[in-house]
Amino acid sequence: MWRFLMRGVSLLVLLSVPSGLWAGDDGFAEKIINSQCKNCHRFEGQPTSKFELKAPDLMWSGVKYQRPWLIRWLVGQESNLYPNSYRWDKSTFSGKHMVLMHEEATALADYMEKTYRDSRVKKSFVDMSTFTEMEASLGADIYRQYSCMGCHQIKDDEGKNIGGPISVDLFDAGNRYTLDWWSRFAENPQDFTPHSGEYLADISPRKARHIIGYLMTLGVKDFKFYEPWNSAAFKNADAKRGGKVYKEYCVQCHGPQGKGDGPGAKGLDPKPAVHADLPLADYPEDYLYNLVYYGGKSVGKSPNMPDWGMTLPEQSLADVIAYVRSTFKGQ
Ligand code: HEC
Ligand code: HEC
Ligand code: HEC
Repeated sequence: MWRFLMRGVSLLVLLSVPSGLWAGDDGFAEKIINSQCKNCHRFEGQPTSKFELKAPDLMWSGVKYQRPWLIRWLVGQESNLYPNSYRWDKSTFSGKHMVLMHEEATALADYMEKTYRDSRVKKSFVDMSTFTEMEASLGADIYRQYSCMGCHQIKDDEGKNIGGPISVDLFDAGNRYTLDWWSRFAENPQDFTPHSGEYLADISPRKARHIIGYLMTLGVKDFKFYEPWNSAAFKNADAKRGGKVYKEYCVQCHGPQGKGDGPGAKGLDPKPAVHADLPLADYPEDYLYNLVYYGGKSVGKSPNMPDWGMTLPEQSLADVIAYVRSTFKGQ
């Protein structure tokens, strides 16, 4: 009984003394990094083969992680990131990462944010406030096409882990990385780690936006996607202006009266839709927007229905959609 009490007391002392002493203390953070973290992590130096490292490099850790994630990681509230351990060739470290107390973790996060910056990391060209659900699904396609799935796990619709377990899990990437770091990493992963199998150099800026943005939605509960059809351009849409857009860009296939008999219709299979027969006024907004912006293939229709997102400005898209909605109401 007495021993039990004593233990309780010393535990209390241990827990309460440091918080008062250490909170926000740079000297303390530096000491921990030098005496503990540096046993495994590098905080300076050039990117090097992971087979010479014990743990992921942290020289850019001040710009890489979202602060709440970093703190959760340091206090041991996150699961390991590497399903086969970081050094899968050795599997010596498969246990739990060292755990800090909350005050210590906060002090470390503050210190890292100040100290381990990377001047290559600039503000991302991706604006997540205009990122749409369709863009995320196009990003998910790129994730498969570019073999990302081969080495990084994500979750399927049922929440099961899928993909090769050779590198870091990405199903929670949207809560872990900063958009700026990840955008710069994607530009050329070799600048950070020579062993990355990621290759995105041949894709367009538009597709880069899709894959970068897609990762930033992973694990984010109720991510708020942008809905272009609720934008100002759509509120100000004008069917009359849209009629001109239709004549210029759509009539060639869909015909002047929307009968599907434009000169470009010849030789197309399936034929361009007969707009005159379709109740386009009743079509869902997101469907029509995605069809016209990303082309037929984005909604499971023929790829011969072109992708207008790169050709037409937002206002013209809104106008032509207003035109087809007000003109074609079905038979
Ligand atoms: C015994 C070796 C060891 C020590 C000591 C250690 N770490 Fe780690 N750390 C690792 C390993 C291994 C991983 C990768 C673990 C995993 O997710 O599978 C890791 C992962 C991390 C990550 C995530 C890295 C990423 O981007 O994938 C951070 C951040 C981190 N450690 C910070 C620290 C800090 C700060 C300290 C000191 C308080 C520290 N670590 C001490 C071995 C260590
Ligand atoms: C051949 C395997 C392979 C493929 C394919 C691959 N990666 Fe990686 N990726 C890695 C390795 C290895 C690293 C470095 C981290 C490590 O040592 O495991 C890495 C690092 C990353 C990181 C940074 C992780 C961190 O915490 O530092 C991200 C994000 C990432 N990859 C995304 C992607 C995306 C997106 C794709 C597809 C375009 C992709 N990767 C394709 C192996 C791969
Ligand atoms: C190069 C020919 C071509 C041009 C130009 C074209 N379309 Fe299409 N469009 C098609 C084809 C082909 C289909 C039929 C797709 C299918 O049935 O799989 C189609 C189908 C459609 C549909 C019906 C989709 C559905 O769910 O049935 C709409 C609406 C549409 N296009 C709008 C437009 C608008 C608006 C423009 C001008 C901005 C345009 N199209 C320009 C070829 C074209």
